[in-house]
Amino acid sequence: MTTLAAEPTAALAATGPTAAAPDSAGTDHPPVVLAELHDALTRRGMSLVEITWEQQRLHEARRWSVVEMLDGIDVARLTPLERAMVWNAGRAELTTKPGADRLERQADAECGRWQRSNPTVAAIMQACGTWSRYWNEEEAHHETAFNRLAALTGMEAIPDETFLEFRQVFPDDGMLRTLVLLAISEITAAVNYGQCRAAATDPGLRALFAQVAADEIQHRNYFLSFAKALVDSGEYQAKDAFAVAHLFLREDGELGGSARERVESRDTHVNWWDRLDTADSAAAFQPEASGRKEQLVCGALQKITGLTVRTAAEVEDTWMDLVGA
Ligand SMILES: [Fe+2]
Ligand SMILES: [Fe+2]
Repeated sequence: MTTLAAEPTAALAATGPTAAAPDSAGTDHPPVVLAELHDALTRRGMSLVEITWEQQRLHEARRWSVVEMLDGIDVARLTPLERAMVWNAGRAELTTKPGADRLERQADAECGRWQRSNPTVAAIMQACGTWSRYWNEEEAHHETAFNRLAALTGMEAIPDETFLEFRQVFPDDGMLRTLVLLAISEITAAVNYGQCRAAATDPGLRALFAQVAADEIQHRNYFLSFAKALVDSGEYQAKDAFAVAHLFLREDGELGGSARERVESRDTHVNWWDRLDTADSAAAFQPEASGRKEQLVCGALQKITGLTVRTAAEVEDTWMDLVGA
């Protein structure tokens, strides 16, 4: 089993660029993900203009160029394993655009639904929908970087039919459940890319995997921020966050991805973790590190709900307690 790369592991363990709340929405501090968004909107009285400014500053501070990153890779010398990792990553990243498009629409609809009954929840939804434009743009970097690189190395082309299949939009779900699922998806991606980086030898490709992993960690931090704010509002229940986490952590659950014995067949959308192709002998590398993912999902639940869990079994116990089973 390949171990995680040092940089992504360290970044995952840290809280990342988050903060309780800045003193102002000016430029007197580095841009952050607001870890205490509900508090920022209520007790601290931050406006949506100020919150959006914080999002814009962080997005700008983290921008990078796909063209320049690809220029730094020695394409002709990539190994079969490196090419297979890139090809899989490109296919997986095709599913992020429909995810971000859907989040934008759902957040907007939820904002309207809460506007009269709870303006703070409406503001959380709006902050989330507003941020989705940055998320979509950043995921575009991942998708195009990996797919362009796969094409340059002569990997099997992705037919338009597959492109369209991977673009199908996920069905709607409750907002808290959606945000928890997205946080877990980002955790899974970040750990996988950390493993890819460790398995790669080309310095330029290692830098690309490290950059994308860092982006996924930042996305996780945003999803945790929005999910925690919904729970803090009192309108959303911790049990829903635990229900989604249990779906991933249970035996033979979603976290097993394509390595599971039985992967659900769907005609509505594609879960990228179900579709990693590791059958080719050249791609014997399987990004798993399920223990690390379990630990990070437990940490995410703790941040969102304030309830401490350390293992998949504790997640199941707490979930059953919360639903009163
Ligand atoms: Fe991504
Ligand atoms: Fe991401």
